[in-house]
Amino acid sequence: MDAERTKAGANVKQVVPFPVRGTAVPGFVYGTAWKEQETERLVRLALEAGFRGIDTANQRRHYFEAGVGAAVSKAIADGVARRDELFLQTKFTFRGGQDHRLPYDPNADPATQVRQSFASSLEHLQVDTIDSYVLHGPSSRFGLTGVDHAVWQTMEELFTAGKTRFLGVSNVDLDQLEELVAHAVVPPAFVQNRCFARDGWDHDVREFCRAKGIVYQGFSLLTANGRELQHPAFQRLVARVGKTPAQVVFRFAQQVGMLRLTGTTDPVHMREDLDADGFDLTDDDVRLVETIAGAR
Ligand SMILES: NC(=O)c1ccc[n+]([C@@H]2O[C@H](COP(=O)([O-])OP(=O)(O)OC[C@H]3O[C@@H](n4cnc5c(N)ncnc54)[C@H](OP(=O)(O)O)[C@@H]3O)[C@@H](O)[C@H]2O)c1
Repeated sequence: MDAERTKAGANVKQVVPFPVRGTAVPGFVYGTAWKEQETERLVRLALEAGFRGIDTANQRRHYFEAGVGAAVSKAIADGVARRDELFLQTKFTFRGGQDHRLPYDPNADPATQVRQSFASSLEHLQVDTIDSYVLHGPSSRFGLTGVDHAVWQTMEELFTAGKTRFLGVSNVDLDQLEELVAHAVVPPAFVQNRCFARDGWDHDVREFCRAKGIVYQGFSLLTANGRELQHPAFQRLVARVGKTPAQVVFRFAQQVGMLRLTGTTDPVHMREDLDADGFDLTDDDVRLVETIAGAR
């Protein structure tokens, strides 16, 4: 990250890079779900605040990918960020997760749908290559189907052709992830999951990821854990370190090895979230947050 070489870079907080497979990606990813017509404005604000990782999906029901692309291309043209310092991540979403605004022919075979969705993502994002291409979720609740494997194989072809630097998978349980890793020629570099404190912040999936060199991306770190963040022991920790509850959660997540996502719409929160790297939690603090759901 060479902040000096971007016009806005000199005044913005730069995120500590996160190691992935011998290279590095930005340590905080800005999520673009549910922003609709505000997508372009908010992505621009996030880039100006210092975010260099952007997460989206070719799923018009929840994301406006073309709005992300408009913000990114204008930010590059205006010298706010360079393409080579950005980490752009998007997703392939099955028919069941889409509304009527499909990025592919619903009657085509799965491999064709992946290729069509990917080509449409490149157009929306106004780029030639993606940094991370993610399977938004398996086609069924439990296990993997032949369709999931066919989709992954097509994603592997995109990887091999140099169209995406990494592959990832989202919304998986441990069994599904183990099965994917066992069958994949190109294993996922990322798992992106909703992170519930009541499950030890997705402890078992995170442990598997750690063992396999997969980077775990956590989302809904704040919104999935409202009750746990009210716990008196967590509140005491927040008071002692003198940070906001969000900053303590994001710092905890970083210290246990997660690549974090935030979808904040507030420029003050954007800066607070990026500032969450500016302090340390002790090992005891990390243990407390990791087990907060069962804490007395
Ligand atoms: N793979 C998937 O299926 C999937 C599913 C869901 C999400 N995601 C990705 O993850 C991204 C993030 O989603 P999310 O569920 O983690 O977050 P989110 O739904 O966008 O919400 C973040 C919430 O936390 C608040 N917040 C953020 N920083 C804060 C701070 N410093 N202090 C206080 N409040 C703060 C925000 O409020 P303010 O806006 O007021 O700051 C907002 O209410 C999405 O945009 C999407 O890219 C992926």
